[in-house]
Amino acid sequence: MSLWFWVMPWMRMGASGTTIRSASMVDSSRMAAIHAEGFAVGWDRSEIERMVLEGDVADVLVSQAVFGEIVTGFAISRVVLDEAELLSIALDPEVRGRGYSTSLLKRHAERVRRAGAESLFLEVAADNAPALALYRGLGMQEIGRRKGYYPASKGPGDARRDALTMRWDIAHLDPTPRAW
Ligand SMILES: CC(C)(COP(=O)(O)OP(=O)(O)OC[C@H]1O[C@@H](n2cnc3c(N)ncnc32)[C@H](O)[C@@H]1OP(=O)(O)O)[C@@H](O)C(=O)NCCC(=O)NCCS
Repeated sequence: MSLWFWVMPWMRMGASGTTIRSASMVDSSRMAAIHAEGFAVGWDRSEIERMVLEGDVADVLVSQAVFGEIVTGFAISRVVLDEAELLSIALDPEVRGRGYSTSLLKRHAERVRRAGAESLFLEVAADNAPALALYRGLGMQEIGRRKGYYPASKGPGDARRDALTMRWDIAHLDPTPRAW
């Protein structure tokens, strides 16, 4: 039985403190577990380690619990010159719906900006209501639609789902590091 099983009830009871920091290799197992909860096809730990090693910008949401800190979300982007691609963002289901994803993505975008990007691009399933609300709330613009880009969510009888391509202008963001 995992440590997470024992720690989560304390977090539900509101153990204090949530922060955002850069990800490191030791966070990769939790990031893989959170990714697997959020997506039909998960990333394994080694894929995440490779991304962090190769210099992708990775940030984690960290919640304090009785036994120390627990990674409860992450965002990871690849920066090439002045453009970035958001490769993934996901929160543990236990901490969704509290606005943390907005804080995480804002802080992540500042780091992406520091790495030289002026625009951040992403793809999102057209039926992913929480993600769309998050991205639109931050002012991202839809710039394209890819018909049938994602597999059906429920089963083989369902239609494939469209992807929306979005762009976020982050050139104006203040890249100065600061505590959350
Ligand atoms: C997408 C994700 C990171 C958003 O995190 P979250 O904690 O649920 O988001 P928040 O609580 O910050 O809410 C973001 C917005 O979505 C809205 N929202 C949340 N759930 C919603 C739902 N089921 N339907 C419509 N809107 C919803 C919130 O009201 C909020 O909008 P507001 O700021 O205007 O109030 C999270 O749902 C997740 O990890 N999903 C699985 C992985 C995933 O889909 N990642 C995105 C891939 S592109």
